[in-house]
Amino acid sequence: MISYTSQELIELEESCGAHNYHPLPVVLERGSGVHLWDVCGKRYLDFLSAYSAVNQGHCHPEIVEVMVNQVRRLTLTSRAFYTERLSCYEQYVTRYFGYRRVLPMNTGVEAVETAIKLCRKWAYERRGVRDGDAVIVVCGGNFHGRTSSVVSFSSDLSAREHFGPYMPGFTVIPYNDISSLEEVLSSNRSVAGFLVEPIQGEAGVLVPDDGYLRSCRELCSRYGVLLIADEVQTGLGRTGRMLACDYEFVRPDILLLGKALSGGTYPVSAVLADDEVMGVLGPGQHGSTFGGNPVSAAVAMKSLEIIERDRLSENAFRLGELFRSGLRALCRESGVVLTVRGKGLMNALVVDNSSKEDLAWDICLKLADNGLLAKPTHTNIIRFSPPLIITEEQIRESLDIISTTIGCNF
Ligand SMILES: Cc1ncc(COP(=O)(O)O)c(C=O)c1O
Repeated sequence: MISYTSQELIELEESCGAHNYHPLPVVLERGSGVHLWDVCGKRYLDFLSAYSAVNQGHCHPEIVEVMVNQVRRLTLTSRAFYTERLSCYEQYVTRYFGYRRVLPMNTGVEAVETAIKLCRKWAYERRGVRDGDAVIVVCGGNFHGRTSSVVSFSSDLSAREHFGPYMPGFTVIPYNDISSLEEVLSSNRSVAGFLVEPIQGEAGVLVPDDGYLRSCRELCSRYGVLLIADEVQTGLGRTGRMLACDYEFVRPDILLLGKALSGGTYPVSAVLADDEVMGVLGPGQHGSTFGGNPVSAAVAMKSLEIIERDRLSENAFRLGELFRSGLRALCRESGVVLTVRGKGLMNALVVDNSSKEDLAWDICLKLADNGLLAKPTHTNIIRFSPPLIITEEQIRESLDIISTTIGCNF
């Protein structure tokens, strides 16, 4: 293989790849646990975890082993036949989360699309909503992926602009605003579901008020509307509970999972629901060639087993508290940091970029120089979401790096 310098590799991507991402100028080639290495051998603490997909740590040896064994045995049959792996996984994941049925897909946005279809069909066939009239309520600032129907209800201009015509049937209300939800549910009999992130990740780790999700649950039940929780990012231990909804003992009617369902080794997502909802789908009405393939099933089972066995939610809860208190101390000392927020190991630092628009980006460049990888969201927010296997010592090391970096002149 030809060996390229980092700069040449960046130039290759810039010249041959679509410009639909804006990566930090770091070229990575290896990962293990909480660490990543670039092509020059420099080591970094990974504080992005592929947007929370690598909760179990990079290249977790047990997940890799299961994956390699499965790849050697059987990779894909499509759902035209039964496989031993999928049947066992379906039993495992439904028991794990306490739902009757699962529909396996690949990416997070496919899980969201699946939920939209399920919710609409349920509304027509079980709720008596007139065909074509179903409305799904979503929140301003949402991020549920990037397909054309999902960007149709995005409030992020760059995600939406010039991708129309847009899919109708969505009503946007403010996030963390219970009276808006009540207003829309009480005034429109065609509302079929409410799709919500328990914490808005891409919006900048916006944590709603205590009790918000519980009130959403109560309202959805009162008005006969499906509560759809998008836990693609917040789920699987990230926020210090297995599901962020668990903080308020909320059980959604449709639960969406993705990302860490494979420990970042493979695209695996899942839609969980009970018979009343999942029962509306029949053969040929939804599916995916790769969804539920034996590799994804094997990998997902092992990834879930590790989260529970290694008590990763508990670790995220405990070290999240420590991390935020360290960041808050920084906040008091530094004029640049405005706010720290988050839950578990899903956290964000809001910086004052009034005198330098790209401050968050510049801080992330400096953090990378100092051995920690994080990515800004918007121009003033830096997200910190390390793998959940991180240790107390590594959290302290990260706080030292962040403190040294923030202390620099920008
Ligand atoms: C809450 C949420 N939903 C859905 C998605 C889409 O997942 P994917 O990129 O795997 O399609 C994301 C991705 O960041 C997300 O954070």
